[in-house]
Amino acid sequence: MFAEAIGATTLGIDGKEIRVEVDIMNGLPAFEIVGLPEAAVKESKERVRSAIKNSGFQFPTKRIVINLAPAQMKKNSSGLDLPIAIGILTASTQIKQNVARSFMMIGELSLEGKIRGVNGVLPMAIHALEQGIHKIVVSEDNKEEAALVDGLSVYAPSTLRDLILFLEGELSLEPCKPTDFVDESVSDRCDFADVQGQQAAKRALEIAAAGGHNILMSGPPGSGKTMLARRIPTILPSMTRKEALEITKIYSIAGFLKQQSGLLKHRPFRSPHHTISDVGMIGGGRIPKPGEVTLSHHGVLFLDEFPEFSKEALEALRQPLEDFEVTIARANATLTYPAKFLLIVAKNPCPCGYYGDAEHTCGCTTAEIRRYNRKISGPLLDRIDLQICVQRLPYDELKSNMQTETSADIRARVEKARARQHERLLPYGLFCNSQMGHRELKNLCPMTPEAEALLGQAYQQMKMSARSYDRIIKVARTIADLAESDIIEAIHIAEAVQLRSTPEDSLYQ
Ligand SMILES: Nc1ncnc2c1ncn2[C@@H]1O[C@H](COP(=O)(O)OP(=O)(O)O)[C@@H](O)[C@H]1O
Ligand SMILES: [Mg+2]
Repeated sequence: MFAEAIGATTLGIDGKEIRVEVDIMNGLPAFEIVGLPEAAVKESKERVRSAIKNSGFQFPTKRIVINLAPAQMKKNSSGLDLPIAIGILTASTQIKQNVARSFMMIGELSLEGKIRGVNGVLPMAIHALEQGIHKIVVSEDNKEEAALVDGLSVYAPSTLRDLILFLEGELSLEPCKPTDFVDESVSDRCDFADVQGQQAAKRALEIAAAGGHNILMSGPPGSGKTMLARRIPTILPSMTRKEALEITKIYSIAGFLKQQSGLLKHRPFRSPHHTISDVGMIGGGRIPKPGEVTLSHHGVLFLDEFPEFSKEALEALRQPLEDFEVTIARANATLTYPAKFLLIVAKNPCPCGYYGDAEHTCGCTTAEIRRYNRKISGPLLDRIDLQICVQRLPYDELKSNMQTETSADIRARVEKARARQHERLLPYGLFCNSQMGHRELKNLCPMTPEAEALLGQAYQQMKMSARSYDRIIKVARTIADLAESDIIEAIHIAEAVQLRSTPEDSLYQ
């Protein structure tokens, strides 16, 4: 007898429907799976065999052939256990024909017959709906995740036996309800109100968040760079449901979604250690996984101790910074992962950390400082619009307990500035000032004559490159947006010029 069941697997960050075809023929007992199964699917044989027996059914002692279609795509999800088991039971007429036809089924089986969770259920559920499948069966662990997809009825029986009773109409299961979505990026645990003083740094971060500008912070140890960086997600615009869904999809595939959780409610903040490899940074590997740039999608990628990162890992950042996605070549397919993040990098000004500090003397030689900073020069630096210097806080300011602005206050201004940008940039297919190219800079950045004069003067005096010149205009545009001004004024240019210098820069002039 022949039967078919619907399962799914993931490819990149998307789900793909898999048709599980089962044929049971007379002949010597055998159990074969064809259609490019990888390790996790090959092992499925043993789990399915035991689960069927332990659920009170017969495992057919005939020749069983399973074909996973489309055959040319590699499959590596233990979630195919469930449709394989249902396919076998249908083909051996132990359950009624056609009862499972309209369901997509995703779940791993335990030897005992329990249904277990797998990674990547959200993208598979999204794909089900796209394919016109409206009913899906998943494990209890994955039900919240699948229920995020509007228009899909999600059923989560706990065992294979319950699933069969449900399919045959002998057990009723309520479809799972989706949990509400609220953005909780701003929380009591992490707020800009915790940071005393540091007005200049906070202002720079507000500008970075408002225009989507990557930023470099240079300063001695303990000056609060890490503390400031951690709080950036709290001032980025609040997440839309669509963004939350995209991020949740990525975390689902990476296997980072906590059990029984719905949509992620915080913008990601990733802070990989400087020993990370290029594969860890952009993703890939034998069983491809999203890398840090993708895990930071719609959030912040923070690279602390920037000059310590390997050249390969830093080089790997270039494509995602330009294209907002990464492409990974594989033997039989090319995967694309989204990677749109705000890059925040932090470093000490010199190897000892105290160059430019008011109280400590720096013991480094000029050559040592140059060597330390050399790694981050060049193309990568071109993608970082803002460079600031973070000084240690004087003791009385640290202790002052002065009332400081909360993240919510800052975020309100950021959102206003973003709204202005959206309106202006939408016809160009862009969403924030940092993305503007030469054409947009020309058309969308009108300046007062004073502003133009000041920019010209700065260009000459600071021996700017054409790139730096463009960057100053982009940043000035964001500053003008924060000030709700349609035209760039001289004060906006003046502030933008200041946001591009660190004390160690003077060593290169
Ligand atoms: N402006 C500040 N307000 C409050 N606490 C601060 C401030 N700056 C530094 N600190 C304290 O100092 C600690 C060290 O700061 P950190 O962010 O790790 O510095 P860095 O990353 O520059 O070495 C923080 O955890 C925080 O407790
Ligand atoms: Mg730090």
